Amino acid sequence: MSEQIPAVNLANTVLSDAELADINAEIAHAPYRAAVAIDALKIVQAHRRWVSDEALAALADYLQMSAAELDSIATFYNLIFRRPVGENVILVCNSVTCWIKGCDGIRQALSERLGIREGETTADDRYTLLPVTCLGACDKAPVLMVGNEKFEDVTVEGLAGILERREGATPA
Ligand code: FES
Repeated sequence: MSEQIPAVNLANTVLSDAELADINAEIAHAPYRAAVAIDALKIVQAHRRWVSDEALAALADYLQMSAAELDSIATFYNLIFRRPVGENVILVCNSVTCWIKGCDGIRQALSERLGIREGETTADDRYTLLPVTCLGACDKAPVLMVGNEKFEDVTVEGLAGILERREGATPA
């Protein structure tokens, strides 16, 4: 007779009490656990900056779905980060309207100012620079986000002010 291996609750060993409390608050209003997948991913990301494979597997387990299903949702939703990022993620829209209105120049100026290329994080872990598709404010292009804050009609000259403003803000 084989030895019974005790079941390990993956979620409780990987996810923090605070994360589980926030996720449970979402589940309380949902028809089924998997329905809160995006909100739960955002919660985990808010606590850790990004969603590792380990955290994703634990979360999938908790939401009673497969890791592959949850990963496909995380991949589709491009504001979920699956790799480590800095305290502040700068997302520069590179969709067509922002491209026409000069997002390449914005991105280049940010790269020079921060000393990183797209996809990289500054040595002090303060900023990560990433591309993003349309942020839904095409009439105010070019558009970027720093953390949760959206900036519209961005100019190269205005970047210093955006970053200075961010220095005084809570990282997100
Ligand atoms: S194309 Fe940049 S916000 Fe829509």
